[in-house]
Amino acid sequence: MSREITSIKQIQEEACRELEAAADIETIKTLSVRYLGRKGFVTLFLRNVSNLPASERPTAGKQANKLKNFLAQEFENRIEELQEKAAQEERDENIDVTLPGRKGDKGSLHPITIIGNEICDIFLRIGFDIAEGPEIETDYYNFEALNIPKDHPARDMQDTFYTANNFVLRTHTSPMQARVMEKVKPPVKIIAPGKVYRCDSDITHTPMFHQVEGLVVDENISFADLKGVLTVFIGQIFDRDTKMRFRPSFFPFTEPSAEVDISCVMCGGKGCRVCSNTGWIEILGSGMVHPAVFENAGYDSKKYSGFAFGMGIERIAMLKYGIDDIRKFFENDIRFIGQF
Ligand code: PHE
Repeated sequence: MSREITSIKQIQEEACRELEAAADIETIKTLSVRYLGRKGFVTLFLRNVSNLPASERPTAGKQANKLKNFLAQEFENRIEELQEKAAQEERDENIDVTLPGRKGDKGSLHPITIIGNEICDIFLRIGFDIAEGPEIETDYYNFEALNIPKDHPARDMQDTFYTANNFVLRTHTSPMQARVMEKVKPPVKIIAPGKVYRCDSDITHTPMFHQVEGLVVDENISFADLKGVLTVFIGQIFDRDTKMRFRPSFFPFTEPSAEVDISCVMCGGKGCRVCSNTGWIEILGSGMVHPAVFENAGYDSKKYSGFAFGMGIERIAMLKYGIDDIRKFFENDIRFIGQF
């Protein structure tokens, strides 16, 4: 710049024009030196303020300082703007719009959900309703309503997780029998699927697993009805040729009680490792509802009869899919759970 700049206004106009014209960061840095550097116009002007007439000094000094701050800010802003623009241009260059997009992972239903749904669907088709209830259960519903008094040895059958204040994590879905009967009058025809908990862990047990309870109550319900319903169920969830047998057993809430075995789905009954060479596999517990359970729920046990059953969903899924370790269901390795 050859012209001599004398007034602060002139300096400002000149600086703004030059800044406007500057197209790159280097130029702006040069401008910054030219105006604000040690020998810059603003600096020199400030240094000369003492030579001005006394009456002009305060205003001139003030204005020069104001301009100094203003320009410093302007230069900085403009540099940042250019930096951002350059970065954006670089990003734009690196986007190859012809690359095929990445597909998101698509989830699938968990095998236990799939089999649980299949089980429920079968019962829904033959007229059952679905009932659901709490996983944190009172001692009353989990045990006493089901004819399992305190200190009864039958409590040892179920390794219970106790929580504070007489609550337990339900050890089976059977408390739903009592909960439903307290609410509705017969006839009752429900299944109750859900999570249950037992303090147990090995290749066939996990501390949390799933059951489906069944309960049918009306006048004149007999063991033959139980057999009929289970025959339909087993024929559909496995296949028509699957054989079924009742084996006498004990549950405090059913009398008589029976465990149900099916012919081994692996060997067809010839005997193999899965069925311990017996040809049979146990898949559920069942029986006729005990009169004490009816009385506890306020049902007339002389007038009504009923049956109940309870099965483990994991067990059925393991048999259907040929899985030999129940823990695989809950390790959440998607290479495993994504296969179904
Ligand atoms: N609740 C029993 C269990 O978990 C199964 C069962 C349900 C047995 C209903 C009889 C009637 O082992």
